[in-house]
Amino acid sequence: MSDIKTYPVPQQYLEHTLINNAQYESMYQASIDDPENFWAEQARAKIDWEKPWDSVMNVDYKKAHIRWFEGAELNVCYNCVDRHLASKADQTAIIWEGDDPKNDLSITYRELHQKVSRFANLLKSRNVKKGDRVCIYMPMIPEVVYAMLACARIGAIHSVVFGGFSPESLKSRILDSDCQVVITADEGLRGGKTVPLKKNADKALEGCPNVHSVIVVKYTQADIAWQESRDVDYYASMEAMSDDCPCEIMSAEDPLFILYTSGSTGQPKGVLHTSGGYLLYAALTHQYVFDYHDGDVYWCTADAGWITGHSYIVYGPLANGATTLVFEGVPTYPDAGRFWDVVDKHQVNIFYTAPTAIRALMGQGNEFVNRASRSSLRLLGTVGEPINPEAWEWYHQVVGETRCPIVDTWWQTETGGILLTPLPGATQLKPGSATRPFFGIEPALLDSDGKTVEGAGSGALVMARSWPGQMRTVYGDHDRFISTYFSQYPGYYFTGDGARRDEDGYYWITGRMDDVLNVSGHRLGTAEIESALVLHESVAEAAVVGFPHDIKGQGVYAYVTLMSGVDPSDALKQELIKLVNQEIGPIAKPEMIQWSPGLPKTRSGKIMRRILRKIASNELDNLGDTSTLADPSVVEQLIKHRLNQ
Ligand code: PRX
Repeated sequence: MSDIKTYPVPQQYLEHTLINNAQYESMYQASIDDPENFWAEQARAKIDWEKPWDSVMNVDYKKAHIRWFEGAELNVCYNCVDRHLASKADQTAIIWEGDDPKNDLSITYRELHQKVSRFANLLKSRNVKKGDRVCIYMPMIPEVVYAMLACARIGAIHSVVFGGFSPESLKSRILDSDCQVVITADEGLRGGKTVPLKKNADKALEGCPNVHSVIVVKYTQADIAWQESRDVDYYASMEAMSDDCPCEIMSAEDPLFILYTSGSTGQPKGVLHTSGGYLLYAALTHQYVFDYHDGDVYWCTADAGWITGHSYIVYGPLANGATTLVFEGVPTYPDAGRFWDVVDKHQVNIFYTAPTAIRALMGQGNEFVNRASRSSLRLLGTVGEPINPEAWEWYHQVVGETRCPIVDTWWQTETGGILLTPLPGATQLKPGSATRPFFGIEPALLDSDGKTVEGAGSGALVMARSWPGQMRTVYGDHDRFISTYFSQYPGYYFTGDGARRDEDGYYWITGRMDDVLNVSGHRLGTAEIESALVLHESVAEAAVVGFPHDIKGQGVYAYVTLMSGVDPSDALKQELIKLVNQEIGPIAKPEMIQWSPGLPKTRSGKIMRRILRKIASNELDNLGDTSTLADPSVVEQLIKHRLNQ
């Protein structure tokens, strides 16, 4: 791959960085040679423990038994808030930038401590105890951070559900983890539009009889329905709460949160993360990957409803005593210059976003970027999907004016934190590559026989050993945890992604190997979308695949077979789109719906998705073997009627 450009570490990083190349090499080696010692040292340096551990790690991938720092005790909220009060009480913890550029706030660590303590007492007043599950369905306002930390403070397990999810999705997540308390707002604001969160929650809760309390932040003061016995007015109740709420002492392996994510089969799974290892891993990666120095202003544009928001807006940065920016809006409102205006306004030094946003902004022209100075920026990051070299170059040259390294960070909800990434002071960059493993991470590539690929080559991306931030189980379904991640390649954690390793040992993610789509960095299971489509009485069968999309990375392409006697129509298409919207949320809406009188199936009735994917992607000269199909003529029909893109 000699035509791949490389970018050396910039001079300023050679002079002023936390980890240079020599340090990376030696620390990485130490983390692999003696992981117990490496992680024990990091854990002592980064986290305040109430009680030290009996053992650093206790991992058996065959049983999917993963434990870190057993015997140790700590409180995550204490580590993110209280311990900073001695030296940083007046430092800004959170900069909040509203959807409307006129609205912003600055919250110090002292104020954060007060809000979180009161909120924790409010939860207690509704009888929330250690181990209880609390659902958070919120807009990107500071209260979402208070809510997460308040749960952590009293040992409740939060389950944040992205505010863009539908009532149906919210309901199934509340039920799966039996949340009895929900925290929401009257409405959210995004791009100048309102999101009816309370209304959605009310609808979801019609099917959730165990929910006894709904704490509502009356944010926009919209008219909302109110159930006196169940609904709690957040602002009014906070007034009466005490500022004093001692932190519950938790075991390192006590659950911190559940976060639902899509897999290739069935309902989204509740990824469970625990306290000690997760916090250590989030904090360590945040510091080193973003080269975070005290006083830096750090901005991750994710939503708190995703793992990126958990690890790199809330837990990692706050554990490090950082200033973290919480953004309510979208990249294109009021116009496509918003990100860069906010960078100037708050003098952001480190900026972390998704390739889909970069691609969308790239298409709007450079004047939106150039009207802002961006002189405060020192580092750029991306996450969520592969970044195409063209978008990488634009980000690097136009946004970062070639002085800011780009950290292309590869990780997953399941991994808790970043596993593959450059370190800005240590790693030469190659556009489109997530480069090298973080400390303690041992990636491997396996071929289709499960054999290790040595040197340069491609295969299934697996991890040969555990790291502290790894998920511990699928909530309520450990068998699913084993079968999803540890069965296909025994002895390894299987990521679901394919990757290539080049001659320099750099990793290039090639995308999911399973039936999971990545639409604008959002993870969607094809099975979930299919289940939504077949709910319609006119639909006999549906098969969903992804197709390449210039901005979203992938779009949703649905093949739909109608019941006999039903005529296809545009109106029916709209009904189906609405149905998916209603069942999952707008992010899952099919971009293309192709009426398909038949689907390619094997003689045993299995849909050949490989063929459907190729047709949707317009890779028609490479369909592979179709002779095993029950009716090969179906393929010609599908090709003939495929939708133009
Ligand atoms: O396919 C990979 C892709 O996103 C998947 C994980 O999605 P999720 O759990 O929603 O977490 C996203 C944010 C951490 C991965 O299996 N992915 C994530 N980051 C990258 C990526 N693909 C390529 N390059 C990345 N940097």
